[in-house]
Amino acid sequence: MKRYRLSVCKGMDCKGNGSDAVFAAAKEELARHGAAPRCEAYRGGCYGFCHMGPNVVIREDTGRKRDPLSGEDYQLMGWPGEVYYSRMTPEKMRRVVAEHIAQDQPVREFFGDPDEQE
Ligand code: FES
Repeated sequence: MKRYRLSVCKGMDCKGNGSDAVFAAAKEELARHGAAPRCEAYRGGCYGFCHMGPNVVIREDTGRKRDPLSGEDYQLMGWPGEVYYSRMTPEKMRRVVAEHIAQDQPVREFFGDPDEQE
């Protein structure tokens, strides 16, 4: 089974749009599926996609140490296995955990388009 890192942005705009509830739903659902040991859930910074928020970025955890200077907490890196979900709600988050994290099946219909303009 794969291991993941899941981050929910926490800039002011996305907080106003419910990112705290999305993060809470992620934690709850990870626990419900017994998947918390396989997925580190944390808050990223602002990814610059506030108009499409709340935003969630999931990456495969390859065991690489997180580098606080790498920019991965506030931008997409284009790494293999990186998935960006936009306009997230607690309901969508629960489905992403159940399918992407618990079954290694990313939920394509919720993928965000990083090139979408405001
Ligand atoms: S606060 Fe979520 S992308 Fe800016």
